[in-house]
Amino acid sequence: MEALLALAERVFGSIEVEHTRWRLRSMPALSAFTAWDGDRMVGFKVGYAATARRYYSWLGGVDPDVRRVGIGVALMERQHRWAEEAGFELVETEVAQNNHAMQQLNERSGFVAAGIRFDQEVPRVIYRKRLAASLEN
Ligand SMILES: CC(C)(COP(=O)(O)OP(=O)(O)OC[C@H]1O[C@@H](n2cnc3c(N)ncnc32)[C@H](O)[C@@H]1OP(=O)(O)O)[C@@H](O)C(=O)NCCC(=O)NCCS
Repeated sequence: MEALLALAERVFGSIEVEHTRWRLRSMPALSAFTAWDGDRMVGFKVGYAATARRYYSWLGGVDPDVRRVGIGVALMERQHRWAEEAGFELVETEVAQNNHAMQQLNERSGFVAAGIRFDQEVPRVIYRKRLAASLEN
């Protein structure tokens, strides 16, 4: 957890450490996938159950030194495979409207924009992706 918090601070500049730690410890069906370069964590992807069927992909980032080599997409694929195997039908995420990199990554990974939510007047795009298990039903 400490390595993840340190990388999150590096990726986002600052984070609410205690709130992030609380969510990491407390949310249901929490999963955390990480990427390593030797003993250095260079990427993470964390999510948790929003409902029994809907998985919320909450937080992810890649060390600025190793971007654009496929770590972000690999972590996302791993998370979605896990969520599907765990029985979730839908993955949901949201991203600031000006975060072009994450939007591109989401859309390339099968997410569809489903709406906008304002967080303290900052627009965030809500993305949803149906997992294969639900498409077969
Ligand atoms: C978004 C982020 C996770 C991408 O990680 P990454 O490992 O560099 O991404 P990948 O190398 O797997 O890229 C996969 C695809 O995403 C898209 N993408 C990634 N970075 C991009 C950028 N800066 N601009 C445009 N598209 C981008 C591209 O489609 C890319 O495929 P390509 O390289 O073949 O063109 C990384 O930029 C990051 O940590 N950003 C800051 C944290 C953040 O915003 N997190 C999301 C909010 S929780």
